[in-house]
Amino acid sequence: MAQPDILVTASLPPFLYEPLKADYRCHDYYAASHKPGLLAAEGARVRGLVQGGGTVTPTTLLDALPKLEIISVFGVGYDGVPTAYCRQRGIKVTNTPDVLTDDVADVALALVLMTGRGFVRLNRFVHAGKWEKGSPELTTKLSGRKVGILGLGRIGKAIAERVAAMGMKVAYTGRKPQDVGYEYIADLKALAAAVDFLIVACPGGEATRNIVNADVLAALGKKGTLINIARGSIVDEPALVAALKAGTIKAAGLDVFADEPHIPAALTTMDNVVLLPHVGSATRETRQAMGDLCKANLDAWFADKKVLTLIPELK
Ligand code: 8YV
Repeated sequence: MAQPDILVTASLPPFLYEPLKADYRCHDYYAASHKPGLLAAEGARVRGLVQGGGTVTPTTLLDALPKLEIISVFGVGYDGVPTAYCRQRGIKVTNTPDVLTDDVADVALALVLMTGRGFVRLNRFVHAGKWEKGSPELTTKLSGRKVGILGLGRIGKAIAERVAAMGMKVAYTGRKPQDVGYEYIADLKALAAAVDFLIVACPGGEATRNIVNADVLAALGKKGTLINIARGSIVDEPALVAALKAGTIKAAGLDVFADEPHIPAALTTMDNVVLLPHVGSATRETRQAMGDLCKANLDAWFADKKVLTLIPELK
């Protein structure tokens, strides 16, 4: 049987791309210098599409792929996929849940520690030889403080377990209360007002765009730190920069941004802001597991018309 044609719309690591090339006729749309030409030549044959978690896939691109059967996302987030359109056309969409949960939760915990205990500043202090000349700053005791989690899904729960193990209190918000031992606060602003750390862990997309806005940040207030390991789109970034500049909130720890890899210049000059380059899932082990699952979904589909991890909206 001829190898199915796959369109690749993101930069993929070799440990995923090489096995894909061995089993599929891959078309590198991401790197193509003339994308319309590639679509005109190959689009009619394409049966699968591989993209990253942050990749935005416009419906106009999918319109040019009339035989598309499956989009396999190399990532847990699929906010860049037009899911309603895919449902209509019967296109399967899969992602890579579970395999990255621990790593992403570790990054959230690290950002709580780095912002709360000032570890980034203190590291700079030692590197700069300042310890020879004076004592380090005092920071904030974390156990006993309260963490609010926006989105208690798999990753949110793994974050809750980690901060609870440090003796922090946990509250959360989401569409509905869950059968868990943490306090549920339905209103996001009320949650922000009640906590010392607000951790964003919900899916991105239109439903959550800019929901962490100026009002929520004002409620988080001078005692509060914002942590985001989910999607930059969930936080109103200009409002966040303004809140940090004005001292409306205490600090921020961010792994994700609205327009990656571009970051508002003001953030890079702030001492109370810890910035990471979207590394939630960026360990060798996890990226390998994500790559394996991304390919396994395609393999299962083209072998048996089954997939392993269909997104919930299409179940
Ligand atoms: C990856 C992510 O950086 O899983 C996600 O949704 O944002 C990250 O784990 C990305 O998906 C790699 O393509």
